[in-house]
Amino acid sequence: MPGPLLATLKGERQPRPPIWLMRQAGRYLPEYRALRAEKGGFLELVYDSAAAAEITLQPIRRFGFDGAILFADILIVPHAMGQGLAFTAGEGPQLSPTLLEVDLDHFTPAPARFDPVYETVRRTRAQLGPEVTMLGFAGSPWTVATYMIAGEGAKDQGPARLLAYRDPARMQAIIDAIIAVTVTYLSGQIEAGAEAVQLFDSWAGSLAPDEFERWVIAPNAAITAAVKARHPEVPVIGFPKGAGAKLPAYARETGVDAVGLDETLDPAWAHASLPEGMPVQGNLDPLLLEAGGPALAARARAIIAAFAGRPHVFNLGHGIGQHTPIAHVEALLGVVRG
Ligand code: CP3
Repeated sequence: MPGPLLATLKGERQPRPPIWLMRQAGRYLPEYRALRAEKGGFLELVYDSAAAAEITLQPIRRFGFDGAILFADILIVPHAMGQGLAFTAGEGPQLSPTLLEVDLDHFTPAPARFDPVYETVRRTRAQLGPEVTMLGFAGSPWTVATYMIAGEGAKDQGPARLLAYRDPARMQAIIDAIIAVTVTYLSGQIEAGAEAVQLFDSWAGSLAPDEFERWVIAPNAAITAAVKARHPEVPVIGFPKGAGAKLPAYARETGVDAVGLDETLDPAWAHASLPEGMPVQGNLDPLLLEAGGPALAARARAIIAAFAGRPHVFNLGHGIGQHTPIAHVEALLGVVRG
C-alpha cells in the first residue's frame, strides 16, 4: 500500500490532501541549525550521508509530513560535472570557472560526488515508516544552466538568456549535457529508494514563450521520458516556477505526472486549465506562512477547496523561508489535517 502522498501522485484523490513543504529540511528548524553549526558548511552536510539523512528526517519527526525530501541541492549536478562549487557564508553559492570563461570540456566529470547522495537516500528510506514517501529531486537544466553560466545567482538570469540568444547551439550543448547527467542522477536516487522525483525549474519564469518551449519544456520532457523508460512506475513532479500562462502547455507536453504551482497562480484558474485528473501540488505563499494569523488558515482552506476536484498535494508555492515560526507550520498542519 503506497502512502497518501505517493497515491496522490499516482492520481488517487485523498479525503485530505497529503502535505510536505519545499525546503522543509532547512534553516527554519533549530535542530538543523544546531547540526550545521557542529558540522561546518552546507556542502559538508550534503556529502556527509549520516548527517544528511538525519536532516532529511528532522521535519518528519517534528511534523509528520507525508513526504521526506532528500537533503541536497540543485548545484550538486554542476559539481559532479566537474565545476568548482563553494558556499560562502552570507554570499550564496559560487561556481567556478563559469561557462562564460571556459567550455564544458574544460571540466573533469566527478560522478562519484553522487555516491554520498545515493547513500543518504538509502539511509533515510531505511528509517522512514512505509506511509512516508521518499522524494528525490534535481534542478531542471535551464535553472542549473543559469548558475553554471553566471557562476552565481544573476539578476533576471541575464547571462544565460543572452548566451541562449547569441549562441543557441552552445546553449543546446550545455542543456544536453545537464540532461544526461540529471537522468543518471535521478535514476541513481530511484535505485537507492526514492519513490517519486521532483524537477525544480526555479527560474522558468524568466523565459519568453519560444525559449520556454526550447529550454524548459523540451529538456524536462527529455528527462521525464528517459527516467520513465527505466522506472515507469515512479511519478515525476514538474515545478516550473513562474510559468504562469505557459503552465498548461508544460503540463501537456513534458509527460510529467504532476505539476507544482507557485503562489502567483490562481488555484481556480489552474484547476480549469490543467488536464483533468492531473495531480497538482501547491500553492500557499511561503510569506503568508511566515506571517501567520487568520489569513493563513483562510488561504489554506481556499486552496484545498479549489482543488477538491482533482488529486492535490498540499505544499507551498516555493521553499519555506528561514524565518518561518515553527508554530505557523503547526497551525497549517492543523488546518490541512482538519
Ligand atoms: O525542497 C527542497 O529541499 C528541494 C531541494 C532544493 C534546495 N535548494 C535545498 C536546500 C532546491 C530545489 C534548492 C534550490 C536552490 N538552491 C537554488 C535555486 C533557487 C531556489 O531557491 O529554488 C539555489 C540558488 C540554491 C543554492 C543554495 N542552496 C543557497 C543559496 C542556499 C542557502 C545558503 C546556505 O549556505 O545555506 C542553499 C542551501 C540549501 N538548499 C538548503 C536546502 C534545504 C539549506 C537550508 C536552507 O536554505 O534553509
